[in-house]
Amino acid sequence: MRLSRRVSVAVVGLTALLAATACGDDGGGGTAVKNVEVFTWWADGGEKAGLDGLVGTFGTACPNFTFVNGAVAGGAGSNAKQVLASRLTQSDPPDTFQAHAGNELNDYISAGQIEDLSAKYTEWGLTNAFPAGLISNLTVDGKIYSVPANIHRANMLWGNKTVLASAGIAANATSLDAFFTDLDKLKAKGVTPLALGKDWTQLMLFESVLISNLGADKFIGLWNGSTPWDGADVTKSIADLQKLMTYTNKDRDTFDWTDAEKLIMEGKAGYQLMGDWEAADLDAKGFKDYSYTVFPGNTGVFQWLADSFVLPKGAKNAAGTECWLKTVGSAEGQKAFNTKKGSIPARTDAVAADYPAYQQTAIADWKSLKQVPSCAHGAGCSQGYMGALNSAMGKFSSDGNVSALQTALVAAAGQFAK
Ligand code: BGC
Repeated sequence: MRLSRRVSVAVVGLTALLAATACGDDGGGGTAVKNVEVFTWWADGGEKAGLDGLVGTFGTACPNFTFVNGAVAGGAGSNAKQVLASRLTQSDPPDTFQAHAGNELNDYISAGQIEDLSAKYTEWGLTNAFPAGLISNLTVDGKIYSVPANIHRANMLWGNKTVLASAGIAANATSLDAFFTDLDKLKAKGVTPLALGKDWTQLMLFESVLISNLGADKFIGLWNGSTPWDGADVTKSIADLQKLMTYTNKDRDTFDWTDAEKLIMEGKAGYQLMGDWEAADLDAKGFKDYSYTVFPGNTGVFQWLADSFVLPKGAKNAAGTECWLKTVGSAEGQKAFNTKKGSIPARTDAVAADYPAYQQTAIADWKSLKQVPSCAHGAGCSQGYMGALNSAMGKFSSDGNVSALQTALVAAAGQFAK
C-alpha cells in the first residue's frame, strides 16, 4: 500500500502517540495514560484505610500516574468478583486487580488473563523478598504472576470483652466442647452468642470446625483430594456446624461480615469468627473493647490467605500498573498498607515493632505455627470449588440438612478437588 506523505506523517504521529500512551511516558506532552484503575473490594473501614496507605506510597513513588479507585464493595469480593469476571470476558480489564494467592490465582493464569511478572521480580529485587512457600503459590510452570501485598489469618475468634465478662467467661475456650459451654452462658445472658453472616462467612466457620475435628494435615487433604469428604469426621463437623448455627443471629443469610461485626460492637453479640481484617476494621471504627483468640480447637494452626495484585492482559496502562505493583512489593508500600489492614507484610524483612499489637502476635505465629490454606479466600480451592461450597453453605443455613450438605461437599470435591 502506498501512502501519501501527509497520511504517512499522520500515521507515524499516531503510532508515536500510541507508543507513548502504552508506555505511560508523557514526555512532557501530556499524551500518556496517567490513570491506573486499581480494582479491589476494599471500600470501607480498615480495608479502605489499608488501601489509602498504599495509595499514599504510590503517589510518592509514581508521581507520573494517578490512582483511580475501582473498588466494588462487598466482603470477600462477593460482588467484585462477578463484576471482574464480566469485564474480563468483555476484554475490558482494570489496570490491576486484587486476586488471592493460590488456586484462585491459578484460575486467572489458566484462563490466560494475566501476564507473567517473572522478569519484573528480578528487576525489582523481589525474588528473595517473600517466603518461598508463598512464592510457590504465585507461580505456575516456573513463572510468577502476581505481587503479594500481605498475609491474612482466617481462623480467628473476635469477642466483645464486656459482654464476655458479663457472661462469666474469663478465659478463651480451647476446644469445641468448652466453646459450646461458653455459648450457652452468652445465650443465658440474652445476647446473640455467635454473630454470623452469609454463605462465605459460614464457609469460614465450617473450615475452622473442620480444622478442629480433622487436624491440619487431613484438612489440607480436603483441597488436594487426599482426604475424603464422606468420612465420619466430616459428618461430625457438619453436626457441629448445625449446632453452632443455633447460637447465631437468624438473619445471618442477609448479613455481610461487617453487619455481624456491628452486633459485636453494639454489645448485642459475644463472638464472631472472622479473618484478621476485623482487627483493622474495629480499630478504624474506634471500637477498642475487643478480644481475639484462635478458634477453639485450632491451636497451633495458622489458616492463611494472601491478597496479591496482577497485570491483566490488555491493561490500558501497563506502565502505570507496573509502578503500582512495584509499590505493592516495596518495604514502604507493605508497611503503609499492612499497619492499617490488620494483615502482616508478605515481605520477610518487615520490622514487627512497626505494627499494632495484634499484628505483632500474627507475625510471630506465621513463622512458628502450622500453615493451612483458606478455601473461602481462594488459597486452598479454585473459584469453582469455592462457589460450589458457598452455595452448599447457603442451602444448609436454611434447611439444616446434614446428609444433603455432605452429599453436596462430596460432589463439589469430585468436580473440583485436585
Ligand atoms: C480479602 C481481605 C478482605 C476480606 C473481607 C478477603 O477475601 O483477602 O483483604 O479484607 O476478604 O472483605
